Amino acid sequence: MGTFDIDKDLESLVLSAEQIAEKVAEAADWLDKKFAFTHDTPLAVCVLKGSVFFFCDVVRAMKTPVQVDFMSVTSYGNSSESSGELEIIMDLTASVAGRSVILIEDIVDSGNTLSKIKDMILKRGARSFTVVTLLDKPSRRKLPIKADLSCCEVGDEFIVGYGLDYAQKYRDLPYIGILKREIYEKNSR
Ligand code: PRP
Repeated sequence: MGTFDIDKDLESLVLSAEQIAEKVAEAADWLDKKFAFTHDTPLAVCVLKGSVFFFCDVVRAMKTPVQVDFMSVTSYGNSSESSGELEIIMDLTASVAGRSVILIEDIVDSGNTLSKIKDMILKRGARSFTVVTLLDKPSRRKLPIKADLSCCEVGDEFIVGYGLDYAQKYRDLPYIGILKREIYEKNSR
């Protein structure tokens, strides 16, 4: 296979499109096995916006029928550090009471989003809560929470692409890479 040029604002590649496809297949297979004997139709939840590409790829790769729902939350305000508070911008439309809920995330960083969403969904009466994340940054964790399946551990680097953004840019890249320091340092001056 030939090489290709990554976006000029990236210093290196973390996951190529092909490697992401392997992670998608792995996550879908893991979920299919886990839900093989479930009688209800699980509700797959996507937290906008970062997860949308991984979410769509995983639910389409699964053999298990699922229903899908979306929510939008914010916990970061204007800074890059989590404030710890989670504000629901757009809630799920489905009721989760008595259902198996699968959260499909792009990244678990401080763990704040996952922890708050898990509490909320269990408080609403979900029968079970399972979380699969494409990326995991354990070195940044502030809360003792883990995904049930983490497809790829990454270091404390500024990564973008395949849903992950910097100032809303780079989400549309089909691969994930490390953003050049000069790009985000120039804008924080
Ligand atoms: C990202 C990501 C997770 C969250 C993880 O979303 O999609 O939901 O951060 O970080 P945490 O573990 O520190 O809570 P973000 O709030 O950046 O919004 P976005 O998906 O719209 O980019």
